[in-house]
Amino acid sequence: MAGDRRFHWEYQEEPVERQAFRVTGGRPLRGRVRISGSKNAALKMLAAATLTSEPCRLTNVPEIEDVRAMAEVLRDLGAEVAHPAPNTYEVTAANVEWLFVPLEAAAKMRASFILLGPLLTRFGRVIISNPGGDRIGRRPVNLHVDAMRAMGANIEYRNGYYFARSEGRLRGTELAFPTVTVMGTENAVLAAVLAEGHTIIRPAAREPEVDDLIAMLQKMGAQVARTSPDVIEVEGRGRLHGAEHDVISDRIEAGTFVVAGAITGGDVTIEAAPCDFLGSFLDVVAEVGVAVACGRDTIEVRGTAPGAAQLRAHDVVTAPYPGLATDLQPPTAVLLTQATGTSAVHETIFEDRLEWLGELRKLGAEVEMVDEHCAAITGPSHLRGAEVEMGDLRAGASLILGALVAEGESVIHGAHHVRRGYEDIERKFLDLGAQIEHISEGLGTATR
Ligand code: EPU
Repeated sequence: MAGDRRFHWEYQEEPVERQAFRVTGGRPLRGRVRISGSKNAALKMLAAATLTSEPCRLTNVPEIEDVRAMAEVLRDLGAEVAHPAPNTYEVTAANVEWLFVPLEAAAKMRASFILLGPLLTRFGRVIISNPGGDRIGRRPVNLHVDAMRAMGANIEYRNGYYFARSEGRLRGTELAFPTVTVMGTENAVLAAVLAEGHTIIRPAAREPEVDDLIAMLQKMGAQVARTSPDVIEVEGRGRLHGAEHDVISDRIEAGTFVVAGAITGGDVTIEAAPCDFLGSFLDVVAEVGVAVACGRDTIEVRGTAPGAAQLRAHDVVTAPYPGLATDLQPPTAVLLTQATGTSAVHETIFEDRLEWLGELRKLGAEVEMVDEHCAAITGPSHLRGAEVEMGDLRAGASLILGALVAEGESVIHGAHHVRRGYEDIERKFLDLGAQIEHISEGLGTATR
């Protein structure tokens, strides 16, 4: 075992370098922006690489904090993780001897729980921290744990950790999730590919990132396929081999830039845009009255000058794919502040995901909470610069959007949230003509 490897026996919240963005709004954004690889696909693929002792090479991996955190977790397990070029990662999990995912990893990144399935199915045991909650709600993992138990695992919960074991290989089974869960589906798939026998998952999440994970697993030799829109079937194999895979583009980042172009009266061409995966969102954008044109992998957005009263209010409801993504609820809400009339925003996936609207209100948005799952947004609002705080990455990116259309200067604290999930967001906005800079605020905790 490498003597210089750091282990995290004891949890201590690491200080983070706190930064704020200073944004001066009111400039139309113009030009081209290239979308990076999908965070929520790349993280699962890095975890999938632990299913084999052979090297797996991933390209189009976004350069973001969550990916760096996942790479660190994999290194702590004993995997070799190379980063030979920007956006390329190579993982070789030949010498994994440390089957422990600490609270420190889980506190940084909830997605660390995706290691439950692959480590348990390949090595027969893992101790993994409960990722607990985050700023958008409780975020339980009971469905992941139930799925592993249904496949024969013995899982005990003690002191914040799941102690998971299986006698021999996990066993394929019929899994019936009581609700659609993206990571729950992915964990089940990752476990089933090395389990003994046949697994049927229903309802399986339909998100494009799940299908991209399946595509990578197929290249690794797994027998896994989506056999109907919400059913995934897996025939377990004894071993998998290495593979190369190019991660799909990030549809949430693409949606964020659609709104940026739309509300600033700009003219933005979004490249490497996964148009096919943005159907419900682009329908909303079109209903609101934004001019968007989709090419094969580009989206052109012709914006409306703020306050021009051409955008129309529209009620939206978040839903599992192919519905409107909950991760696009915050950018959509910012768009609706510029539309004439009152729009209802229903959040159906996460319990506290409308809380950030309190910060949007500080920029002058007219937001009324109808109940904890529904807000009414009345526009068009003349937003004005203010000091606001990001609570999570999607809300964070959306506060930048609000600040871009606001008159005057805004200071948005908590920039590290955005760096978790958006590659080079500041440079991308600068290249489009935005006035945005970061200010260092010294060391602090992730929350304040
Ligand atoms: N749920 C349970 N028990 C579970 C798992 C989920 O009750 O064991 C509930 C959740 O509380 C939620 C619903 O099921 O109410 C759906 O949650 P899901 O499991 O689908 O969410 P997730 O897999 O934890 C992923 C993305 C999120 C994205 C959601 C929904 C990753 C790493 N995260 O989370 O992305 O919002 O799916 O699409 O893939 C983000 O990128 O900012 C982000 C939050």
